[in-house]
Amino acid sequence: MKVAVTFPIPEAAKVLLDEMFECRVWESDAPIPKDTLSLWLAEVQGVLTTLTCPLSEEVLTGAQNLKVISTVSVGVDHIDIDFAKRQGIGIGHTPGVLTDSTADLAVGLMLAVGRRMAEGDALVRAGAWSDGWKPNLLLGTDLSGSTVGLIGMGPIGQAVAKRLKGFGCHVLAWNRTPREVAGVEFTDLETLLSRADIVSLHTALTDDTRGMISRERLGLMKDQAMLINTARGGIVDEMALVEALATGRLRAGLDVYAEEPLPLDSVFRSLPGCVLLPHVGSATERTRRAMFELALANLVAGMQDEPLPAAL
Ligand code: GLV
Repeated sequence: MKVAVTFPIPEAAKVLLDEMFECRVWESDAPIPKDTLSLWLAEVQGVLTTLTCPLSEEVLTGAQNLKVISTVSVGVDHIDIDFAKRQGIGIGHTPGVLTDSTADLAVGLMLAVGRRMAEGDALVRAGAWSDGWKPNLLLGTDLSGSTVGLIGMGPIGQAVAKRLKGFGCHVLAWNRTPREVAGVEFTDLETLLSRADIVSLHTALTDDTRGMISRERLGLMKDQAMLINTARGGIVDEMALVEALATGRLRAGLDVYAEEPLPLDSVFRSLPGCVLLPHVGSATERTRRAMFELALANLVAGMQDEPLPAAL
C-alpha cells in the first residue's frame, strides 16, 4: 500500500513508515505544488500532511483510492472536510497532545506583551540600556489580577483558564455551545470583549468563526486591551487590528496570521505594542513527538480500515 507525505518528515518517522508502506515524501521545505500533490494523491491510499498543505476539493477529486488523511495538527481548516467525508475518506488529527503547550504559549504571550519583553530584549541587545534601573523604564501591565476573556472553551481554552486562576485573574469565557467550568464566568461575546483587559482566542477556524473578531467587535475592546491569538489568523479582521495597533489603542500577541508565513511587507512587523511569533504554539520537543506518534497511529489505522485513534 502506498502513502504520500507532503512535507519533509523526521527521519525516525520515515523509517517507521518505510517498514510498512511504499512512501513518497515531499523533501523540500517549499510547499508541494498542487499538480504534484494531485498526481501523488491519485496513486496512494493514505496521506500524512500538515496545516501548510491545503487539501481542497480540487486536489482531492482525483484521489480515488485515498482511505485516510492524517494531519499533524489539531486544526483541520486546510482540509475540505465535507468533500473528504462524502468521498468516504477518514480524517485523523492530533487533539489533546498539544493542549498544554499551546496554553503555555498563550499565557506566555500575555506576559510578553504586558511586560514588554520583546522591547526589553531589543533594548539590551542594542546596547541602549545605558543608565541602569530607572523608575519608569518599560512600564507595562500586570497579568496578575487582570480580567481575561477566553473565546472558545474547548480543551485549550480550559487549559488557559486553569493557568490564569494561578495568576489570580478573573476569567470570562464565551463558547458556541454553553458550558460550565468552575471559576469561569460565561458571558455573551460582546460583554466579554467590552469587559476583558485581555482577550485570547481558542476557537477553530470554520465558516462560522472566520472574521468573527470583526472591526466592530475590536471596537468594543477597552483602550489598551490586548488580543492574544494562538488559534488561527483568519478569525480576526487583520486590517482592523492593524489600525487599532497603529494608533496604540490595542496591543496584541500573535502566533498566527491569515497569511503564513507573514509576508515580508506585512505592516504587522512595524507596529508597536505587539509581539509576533511564527506559529509555534505546539512547538516543543515533547509535544511534537506526541503529535507525530498520534498522526502515525491515525495513518496506520486508516490504512488498515480500523477506527482512527483521533478521528474528526
Ligand atoms: C496548530 O496550529 C495546529 O493546528 O496543530
